[in-house]
Amino acid sequence: MSHAQQHVLASAIVLALLVVCGIHVFLFPMYTPTPQLRLTKVLAYEQALCRTSFKKTSFKMQRHRSENGYEEDDGWSRNSCPRYGIVSAAQGGRLGNQIWEYASVWATARRTGLDPFMPRCILKTLQEHFDNLSIPPLSYIGRCTLDAGQVVNSLGQWNSTQQTIIIPRHAAYWSLILIWPDDVRREFTFKPFLKQYASMLLRNLSVRFNIREPTYVGIHVRRTDYVDYLWQKLKVKPAPARYYLSAMNYFANKYKNVVFVVASDSISWCKNHLNNQKYRIAFISDRDARAPGKDLAVLSSCNHSIIDYGTYGSFAALLSAGETIVYNVTAYFSTMIAEVLPNWQVMS
Ligand SMILES: *[C@@H]1O[C@H](CO)[C@@H](O)[C@H](O)[C@H]1NC(C)=O
Ligand SMILES: *[C@@H]1O[C@H](CO)[C@@H](O)[C@H](O)[C@H]1NC(C)=O
Ligand SMILES: *[C@@H]1O[C@H](CO)[C@@H](O)[C@H](O)[C@H]1NC(C)=O
Ligand SMILES: *[C@@H]1O[C@H](CO)[C@@H](O)[C@H](O)[C@H]1NC(C)=O
Ligand SMILES: *[C@@H]1O[C@H](CO)[C@@H](O)[C@H](O)[C@H]1NC(C)=O
Repeated sequence: MSHAQQHVLASAIVLALLVVCGIHVFLFPMYTPTPQLRLTKVLAYEQALCRTSFKKTSFKMQRHRSENGYEEDDGWSRNSCPRYGIVSAAQGGRLGNQIWEYASVWATARRTGLDPFMPRCILKTLQEHFDNLSIPPLSYIGRCTLDAGQVVNSLGQWNSTQQTIIIPRHAAYWSLILIWPDDVRREFTFKPFLKQYASMLLRNLSVRFNIREPTYVGIHVRRTDYVDYLWQKLKVKPAPARYYLSAMNYFANKYKNVVFVVASDSISWCKNHLNNQKYRIAFISDRDARAPGKDLAVLSSCNHSIIDYGTYGSFAALLSAGETIVYNVTAYFSTMIAEVLPNWQVMS
C-alpha cells in the first residue's frame, strides 16, 4: 500500500467511526426512550400541546366553576395530583376547531369519569367568547408528572383508568358530544357583550325589514382555504350557490316572515351569489371576517340554520338548536351529524 493509499484508508476509518458515533449519540436515544424520559411535568407537556409559546403570551385565566374540585393555584401547592389518567387535547385550527377540541375533551371526560384539563392556549381562545367554562387549565396540576407511555388518543384505545387520553388536534368527537346536546349548549355560554351584540343586531334587522317577529335563519358560508381543503382531502367541490338558494327556498316556504342572516369568511362571494331579491337577507360579516366570535353569537341566536360544512358552521347550528340544513358531503362529519340529530337534514 502506498503512503497516499494508507492516508485515504485512515481518513475513511476515522470518518466511518465518526458516523457510527454520531448515529449512536444522536439517534440511538430516540429509539430507546428510558422510562425516566417518559415522565414529563404536566407544565412542559401543556406547552407541547400548544402552538404558541407561553413565554411570549401572558395567560391570565378566568376563574373556573371547578366542578371536579381543582382550585386556581398560583403556587401550585394545594391541588393534589390526579389519581388516574386525565383527558386533554392538542391545539389545532382556529375558533371552530378549538371549540370542538374543547367539547371533545368535555364529552370524553364525562364518558370515562377521568378529570378533564385544557391547555391554556385553547382556553384563552375560548374565554374570549364564553363565560364559566367548566374545564380548568392544565397548569392547575402543572407540577404533577405525566407518564407519556400511558397516553392514548381516543376512547377506542383507552383500556385502563391509569391511561391519559390526549385528543389530537382538529378532532371533533361529535358522536360522543351529541349524546348530551343540551348540556353542551349550556357549557358554551356567550359572554354578555356578545349576547348583547347578537340580540341588538337581530333587533335592528326586524326594524330594517319592518317585521315584528321574524323567523331568523342563520346561513354560514365557508369559503377561502376550505375550498382547497375539501378538494385535497375529499375531492369535493364547494357547495354551489344553488344549494344555499334551495335551502333558503325551503325555509321561506315553511316559515312566516323569514329573515336570512348570512355570515362567511368570504362575504363578498355571498353578496355576489346569494343576493336574491325574493328574500329578506342581511350580510353581517365584515370583509376579512375579523370577528368570528360576533358572527358565531349571531348565528347561534338565530332560530334555524343553513350550513355547508366545517367545524364553525356546524357548531353554530348546534348552538342555535333549530332546524338545520347541511350540504351533502358523503361520509363527512357535518353530514353524519344529520343522521343523529332529528332536526337536521341533508340537501344536495
Ligand atoms: C358564572 O359563574 C358565576 C359563579 O359561579 C355566577 O355568579 C355567574 O352568574 C355565572 N355566569 C353565567 C353567565 O352563568
Ligand atoms: C391497552 O392499550 C394499550 C395502548 O393502546 C395497548 O398497548 C395494550 O395492549 C392494551 N391492553 C389491552 C389488554 O387491551
Ligand atoms: C343597531 O342599530 C343602531 C341604531 O342604528 C346602531 O347604533 C347599532 O350599531 C346597531 N347595532 C348592531 C349590532 O348592528
Ligand atoms: C327566534 O329567535 C329570536 C332571537 O334569538 C328569539 O327572540 C325568538 O324568540 C325566536 N323565535 C322562536 C319562535 O323561537
Ligand atoms: C347525497 O349524495 C349521495 C352521493 O352522491 C347520494 O347518493 C344521496 O342521495 C345524496 N343525498 C341527498 C339527501 O341528497
